[in-house]
Parts: sequence; C-alpha cells; structure tokens
Amino acid sequence: MNLNRRELLKIGLCAGASVLLPSGGLLAQAGPLIRKKIPSTGETLPIIGIGTARRYEQIHTEAEKAPLRDTLRQFKELGGTVIDSSPTYGTAEAVVGELVDELKIRDALFLATKVSTSGRQAGIDQIQQSFKRPRTAKIDLIAVHNLRDTKTQLQTLRELKQAGRIRYIGITTSFENQYPEFEQTMKAETLDFIQVDYALDNRNADERILPLAADRETAAMINLPFGRGRLFNAVQGKKLPEWAAEFDCKTWAQFFLKYIVSHPAVTCAVPGMAKAEYVVDNLGAARGRLPDTAMRGRMEKFIDGL
Ligand SMILES: NC(=O)c1ccc[n+]([C@@H]2O[C@H](COP(=O)([O-])OP(=O)(O)OC[C@H]3O[C@@H](n4cnc5c(N)ncnc54)[C@H](OP(=O)(O)O)[C@@H]3O)[C@@H](O)[C@H]2O)c1
Repeated sequence: MNLNRRELLKIGLCAGASVLLPSGGLLAQAGPLIRKKIPSTGETLPIIGIGTARRYEQIHTEAEKAPLRDTLRQFKELGGTVIDSSPTYGTAEAVVGELVDELKIRDALFLATKVSTSGRQAGIDQIQQSFKRPRTAKIDLIAVHNLRDTKTQLQTLRELKQAGRIRYIGITTSFENQYPEFEQTMKAETLDFIQVDYALDNRNADERILPLAADRETAAMINLPFGRGRLFNAVQGKKLPEWAAEFDCKTWAQFFLKYIVSHPAVTCAVPGMAKAEYVVDNLGAARGRLPDTAMRGRMEKFIDGL
C-alpha cells in the first residue's frame, strides 16, 4: 500500500519521505534514519543495524531462507546498512552473502564480520573464507572476536586495511570479565571500532568502556541490545509508559534501542532480527526524537523498578 503526499500530510508524516507499510499494519515511521559518525573517518552510519548470530546460523532450506530474504529486503528499503556477522555464526556469513547477492544490495550495505581464531595463518585462512562466503571483494569492518589472539589478528587486519581489502578494524566482547583487557587494548591500539554488550538492564559498559571509546575517538557498535530477548521477558504483559511518546517511542523494542543509541558514545546497535516486522519496528528506533539525559535516567529507574 502506498500513500500519496496529501494522505501522508493528513496523518502527520513528513513530506517527501519514503514510506513503506508492512503487511502487519504497523505504520513505518517516515523520514530518514538518524545517523552517527565513525570518528576515524567522519563517515556516517544509521544507528540501527542487524545482528546475525543465532537466527542465521542454521539455514539450509528455502523455507528457512525466505524470512531472512524478506528481512534483508525490508532492511535495505527502510535505509538500513549495517550487518554484523562472524565466521563462528554457522551459516550466517554464507546466507547473508547469498541473499545480498540475489537482492543486489551489496553496494548499499556496511558489512561487518570478525576474526575468531588463534595464530597468524589460521586468522588469514579464516578471513579468506569470510571474503568468499559473503561473495564480496570488500568487507567494511573486521573485528577481533572476544579478544582472541588480539595482537596477532590486529596485525593482519592492519595489513588488510593498508591493502584496501577492509576499511575498518576493531575488537569485540560481550563478557564483563574481559572488560579490563578490552580497556587495555583500547588504550594501547588504534582502533576504528569497538563492539560491546550494552542494554537497558546491562549498563556496565557505560562505566568505563563507552567513555573510553569517546576519549579515544573509537566508534562503538552495541551487541546484545535486548540481552538476547531478556528485556522483552522483563516487560511481558506491561504497558509502555505514556512518557515514551515524548521521545517518539511506540514499542518496547524502540524503548530499549532508543536508550542505547542515545548514549553519546554509541555509534550504532545491532539487534538480532530475522523477521521483516522486527526490521520495521527496530528501525523505528532510528527515527524521531531520542531520549535526553534526564529521560535516560527515568528509563533506567523504570527498568530497575520492575
Ligand atoms: N562478542 C561478540 O562479538 C558478540 C556477542 C553477542 C552478540 N553479538 C552480535 O550482536 C547481535 C545481537 O545479539 P543477539 O541477536 O544474540 O541478541 P539481541 O539483539 O539482544 O536479541 C535478539 C532477539 O530479540 C528478539 N527481537 C528482535 N527484535 C524484536 C522486536 N522488534 N520485537 C520483539 N522481539 C525482538 C528476537 O527474538 P526471537 O528471534 O526469539 O523472536 C531476537 O532474536 C548478534 O546477532 C551478533 O551480531 C556479538
């Protein structure tokens, strides 16, 4: 269903925006996605991307592939670009590669993956596979996964960056017991990106890692923004507070995501999504107003009080 300009204005959506209405009937908010800068280059990224752990890992049949095709198509149509994967996510890199190729959307995307092994040659071999599986000559970002053999792999990543095969390098973690080593690495190395776990009910990265990312002018990509669905369980059966409308938030998913991406040091979040309706919902968090500091405090109190 397409609405003309007059109909859009009638329902209060800004003119000139490209609007897609999902079959589910939830109106996709109009307007461009909010973008933030990667400090090392000034390039901007939409603040919500896709994570491909778990739901993309065991894809073998056309029936399993179909919802992912719809997800990626919807993502591109709504202006999404960042897709995060890893060679450790089973079929994820390969299935994303196949669908991106089929949909002919590679040029519109920012593809991120990881190197997750020990030893120089093992790292190089794994990275070679990462180039083959997503069927692309260029990967935008490769990060050392969970600090695995960080020094060795960062050296290889630097060489690849120098050779123009990748554009950005970084490190990831989602384990609090790795935070001290993570911080050390952030201080010792020049990184374009970090990726760390951060969610409304898991705010430890806010203490030192995110401020350090800001100090070091490193982009911060957020993993596990819903705590693997934990946040949805916490609010099950609860109504979204009315004050959520003050920052243009219509759903719980947007509540959780807007909290994250409104952190000044956060560049983008990569929620796991394998359904087109999740894309519509989650990209809605990249539109409209974001909560300010006082509102972020109110959101924390709300979640802590559950
Ligand atoms: N160390 C690392 O480098 C590291 C570690 C962990 C994760 N990651 C990255 O971070 C990404 C995100 O983590 P994750 O996927 O495990 O967890 P998550 O993003 O915290 O949660 C994803 C789950 O939330 C649910 N969901 C998503 N959108 C929703 C919506 N609009 N409404 C209701 N439910 C919704 C889905 O559950 P259902 O599918 O069950 O419906 C989805 O599987 C990963 O995919 C991966 O790319 C990196």
